[in-house]
Amino acid sequence: MTHDELKAMLAEASKVFVLTDANVAMYWLPELEHWLGCEQAVEVVVKAGERYKTLGTANRVWKTLLKQEADRQSVLVNLGGGTVTDLGGFVASCYQRGIRFVNVPTTLLAMVDAAIGGKNGVDLAGCKNQIGTFAEPVEVLVNPIFLSTLSDRELLSGIAEMVKCGFIADEDLVDVTVDNYEQYILRAGRIKKDIVEQDFRDRNKRHVLNFGHTLGHAMEAFSLTTDTPLTHGEAVALGMWCALWLSVRQCGLHEEVLMDYTPKMKMLTEQTVMPWEEMDVDAVMRLLAYDKKRCDGHSGFVLIKAIEKPLVDQQVDEALVRESLVELLKSLNE
Ligand SMILES: NC(=O)c1ccc[n+]([C@@H]2O[C@H](COP(=O)([O-])OP(=O)(O)OC[C@H]3O[C@@H](n4cnc5c(N)ncnc54)[C@H](O)[C@@H]3O)[C@@H](O)[C@H]2O)c1
Repeated sequence: MTHDELKAMLAEASKVFVLTDANVAMYWLPELEHWLGCEQAVEVVVKAGERYKTLGTANRVWKTLLKQEADRQSVLVNLGGGTVTDLGGFVASCYQRGIRFVNVPTTLLAMVDAAIGGKNGVDLAGCKNQIGTFAEPVEVLVNPIFLSTLSDRELLSGIAEMVKCGFIADEDLVDVTVDNYEQYILRAGRIKKDIVEQDFRDRNKRHVLNFGHTLGHAMEAFSLTTDTPLTHGEAVALGMWCALWLSVRQCGLHEEVLMDYTPKMKMLTEQTVMPWEEMDVDAVMRLLAYDKKRCDGHSGFVLIKAIEKPLVDQQVDEALVRESLVELLKSLNE
């Protein structure tokens, strides 16, 4: 859809709503409305952060839609990072059994990952994305201008997901850095889009996108119990190191790949505020087991036998998983 077509679609909608969070609203809400010619839109601003990606927030947005008489001809524009696009996609796909929504990602992570692929949802009782839907936005508008106000730490978080795309599908992306990421945004998004097109409902092929996420999620969950949480991308960067370490042990991956990645992993986590001594291996292992049992529908790890040669649903011995974490911490402290 061209920019003009999108503007025309919004002009014809019975009502336009723009959902965003308080940080993004401050920087970009008027600009977006001007850009899309929807200055009359109803603005819905929620609190920023994963803590608010909940049914409670969704409920408040639904009530606003109802009060403002949103109907099936209305459109919801989600302006923000992955928390806003996940929440907004969910809200739109349930309201009156589904209204149209547009994603306008404002973080790098959302531009290359979260805003694409039609998975929407909110967290429940400490488990991420437990309530959700599969529903695609009518359009994803990517404009790197939004990144001009993003912190370096959040930028690195998105770069980690781009590096992940590199390991599973496109070697060039393994070398993305803060200096060259812009030229690879569309390419990384395209990789996700192509994989999703082969398995929209996440039954098999889409599992590959979880490279680095199995242990990454457990470390992220652990960090959320401290005062110094990791960003999603930092956790994925650490999880990828473990996945590569396991791939060397179990799938014949050349050790050089792991050695080359080690300085990159340090670069991707250089703004982390959590002291590494705080990472409790036993607690992470417990969270991993808990996650597998309660939160995660997938079995096993995604490993690689070479760059661009992923293997999904790999079973790994618990002792080896533990060892990978111990080795990760050693390497971080070197
Ligand atoms: N649906 C999917 O396929 C998918 C994939 C990956 C991640 N996700 C989800 O995405 C979420 C993480 O997304 P995220 O990393 O974008 O985090 P986020 O949406 O929480 O944004 C991070 C922070 O940056 C701020 N921010 C956003 N854009 C900004 C801008 N342009 N300038 C200044 N500040 C800005 C936000 O207010 C927030 O404080 C998680 O909930 C994760 O589960 C979903």
